Amino acid sequence: RRPTFYEADCNDEAAIERIFTAHPSIQGVIHFAASKAVGESVQKPLLYYKNNLLSLIVLLEAMQRHGTKGIVFSSSCTVYGQPEILPVTEEAPIQVALSPYGNTKQINEEIIRDTIHADAPFRAILLRYFNPIGAHPSAEIGERPAGTPQNLVPYLTQTAAGIRPELRVFGDDYDTPDGSCIRDYIDIVDLARAHVEAVRRLVEGQATEPLEVFNLGTGRGVSVLELIRTFEEATGVRVPYQIVGRREGDIEQVWADPARANRVLGWTARTPLSDTLRNAWKWQQRQE
Ligand code: UFG
Repeated sequence: RRPTFYEADCNDEAAIERIFTAHPSIQGVIHFAASKAVGESVQKPLLYYKNNLLSLIVLLEAMQRHGTKGIVFSSSCTVYGQPEILPVTEEAPIQVALSPYGNTKQINEEIIRDTIHADAPFRAILLRYFNPIGAHPSAEIGERPAGTPQNLVPYLTQTAAGIRPELRVFGDDYDTPDGSCIRDYIDIVDLARAHVEAVRRLVEGQATEPLEVFNLGTGRGVSVLELIRTFEEATGVRVPYQIVGRREGDIEQVWADPARANRVLGWTARTPLSDTLRNAWKWQQRQE
């Protein structure tokens, strides 16, 4: 089926109202739209607060006006900071945000929590993403960062393609087995599937609590050096890299306990890392 598509700014109340009015049967919303570069958010905090907070408020108000049942919200593992216990569960304490971007995710979670607490007639599912990477296996859908990529995998694939001379590995003196940082890299299509389960759960009235929170990760931590090696083995392409100093604000290691999402949503990350990296490479090769 071909989805109906509108290009609109989620901060634009009138535009959002027109969409809800045109489709009185909207039962659920998945809110992905946000600015997401940690470094940029430090430079442009007001842009981040305005874009990420106002858009949610506009959407929630429209949902209330139109009796829409549920919202699935894209949150982030950044809310946990550097967790004391790994793997990190949804019960881990929320830490003071390290960037305006991270703060917008925390505040958005609170906005949703408070709105539901005030008896909003809808339910919400907060999905805390770990590190989403990859592309659709068709190589028709992927990520195209504006300017220099800030995240590891797009930088790595651009380096493999010869667009960047070398990848910089930010630190090899962390307290991890090979000294580089550890993350939980989650395949983008696996991540997308979790949203389908989440919105179905809301719309079909299966949610047992008005607000549910799920970690979306694989449950496996992978170091930066391990990821480079896996890419090279999966694609046969060498990635020139250099170890440089630590990047400010980086967390040493974090990976998810996805047991709740596995059990309650019936969702598991199933794509092997090598397939994900091969898909990212396929996508990169299709770019100009
Ligand atoms: N890294 C490099 N070289 C690069 C880019 C990244 O070595 O050129 C390293 C980083 O130091 C880090 C790892 O690769 O150890 C992953 O870095 P990313 O920038 O890809 O991802 P982050 O873990 O920093 O950030 C991600 C999301 C954010 C989210 C954050 C929460 O992109 O949206 O996780 O920790 F807030």
